[in-house]
Amino acid sequence: MIIHIGELVNIQNALFNRTKEVLSPWENGTPACYTQVYMSAHRTIIEPFKIKVVEPLNCLTRAEREPILTNAGYNLFLVAAKDVTFDFLTDSGTTAMSANQWAAIMVADESYAGSSSFSKFEKVVRNLTGYEFIIPTHQGRAAERLICETIVKPGMKIPSNNHFDTTRANIEFVGAEAIDLVIDEGRDPTSTHPFKANIDLEKLESFCAANAKDIPFGMITLTNNTGGGQPASLANIRSVAALYKKYGIPFIIDACRFAENSFFIKMREAGQAHRTARDIAHEIFSLADGCIMSGKKDGLVNIGGFIALRNEAWVTTLRSLLILTEGFPTYGGLAARDLEAFAVGLDEVLDERYLEYRLAVTRYLAERLNALGIPTVQPPGGHAVYIDAKSFLPHIEPQHFPGQALACELYLAEGVRSCEIGSVMFGKTDSTGCFIPSKLELVRLAFPRRVYTQSHFDYIIEGMQELVTRKEALRGLKLTYDPTLLRHFTARFEPLT
Ligand code: F0G
Repeated sequence: MIIHIGELVNIQNALFNRTKEVLSPWENGTPACYTQVYMSAHRTIIEPFKIKVVEPLNCLTRAEREPILTNAGYNLFLVAAKDVTFDFLTDSGTTAMSANQWAAIMVADESYAGSSSFSKFEKVVRNLTGYEFIIPTHQGRAAERLICETIVKPGMKIPSNNHFDTTRANIEFVGAEAIDLVIDEGRDPTSTHPFKANIDLEKLESFCAANAKDIPFGMITLTNNTGGGQPASLANIRSVAALYKKYGIPFIIDACRFAENSFFIKMREAGQAHRTARDIAHEIFSLADGCIMSGKKDGLVNIGGFIALRNEAWVTTLRSLLILTEGFPTYGGLAARDLEAFAVGLDEVLDERYLEYRLAVTRYLAERLNALGIPTVQPPGGHAVYIDAKSFLPHIEPQHFPGQALACELYLAEGVRSCEIGSVMFGKTDSTGCFIPSKLELVRLAFPRRVYTQSHFDYIIEGMQELVTRKEALRGLKLTYDPTLLRHFTARFEPLT
């Protein structure tokens, strides 16, 4: 077949317009003050890396997956990773490391004390955050535990936008209270507010005024994982910092996804488009007294975390506790090679080509799912897409777990492993035996960094298209094993007939 040049131009135009539609979510219905910044003149945002090491994808058939899921009691946590094709259980610790990170690993100094790898790591974290005291830990929750054991006492209260589960658990473990003060839009999955991680400043002011003496420190989580990977605006972080300062409360940032939050600010906040993500990140850290960090997210490593503090006050106690359970202060719970890779990752993550691509991944998938009639939490966040299973499968009652049913079908049909965040995780039975469902029935698809390519997502979208045509035939599940604690990890189910 011969294609004339004119036809080619038409095809190109059609393709161009389609890509433009797909990649510009802010053009429709978004307040005019939010700019979408593109790093290149092209509409297509490419993976800004080439691949040197590959791993085979295990592509099973539906018939092969069926007995695997039955044996796992319809619980995807109990499915072996080798039986999963696309693993979207978490973005935590699942990063593909770069050639430079692997190279750094080879020159690590594994000395017990005074390792030069620690000096390198300390310098990178100091340069990034501006904080003087750097305490390495094996991951984010170890940093949370150390801070809570050192500073938090029973009866104290710690405000934030939304505390992540492990932060809340560490606060509650020492008898204190974790208070969520996110703006109302942050609780509404349909709101397209561009900064749904913002703290409600009026609520924070009155909370601080009433409780200042019981608040050992105040927090903000960037981005807000609990609310769907949504960012906070720089204006809000500045105001939060000023409020904490006014009441003499130290300000600690949960900085797991600080780079994604910084790039969202560049893209969406009026007056920030001209700044680099690095510059914005510097300003964010400059507003606080310290941070806790899980390197498994924006550290671009498979393990690692830290506490970084401006002042020395808590450092001696923190380091003593660190030695007790994590390790000597120049390695925390890590090998020096982990510190080396972490130092490189903290620098690489602020590459704007990478950040542009990173945020395009969630946007790309969410928009295409929405176009197929699959509702997702709006707007797409930084690290994950959350499908609203309650709206998508209204025929499945909450007590039959629509989120879990959808997650299981995504596994059977596509080999996708996702995570239910609904009535399996949060549903309860009251004293009369009555089922109290979770407010939302979500399925989280969280994306490992630099691991999957656009064709993987196109393949998944193709399968979703087919799934939509038979969604009425999907059935709910019934619980056959209901453990009392953290049921989503070990519960077992059977499909309803
Ligand atoms: N804070 C936030 C906002 C997180 O998302 C996580 C982990 C942590 C703290 C704890 O860090 O895992 O290194 O101990 N989130 C992972 C997730 C587990 O899948 O969302 P960690």
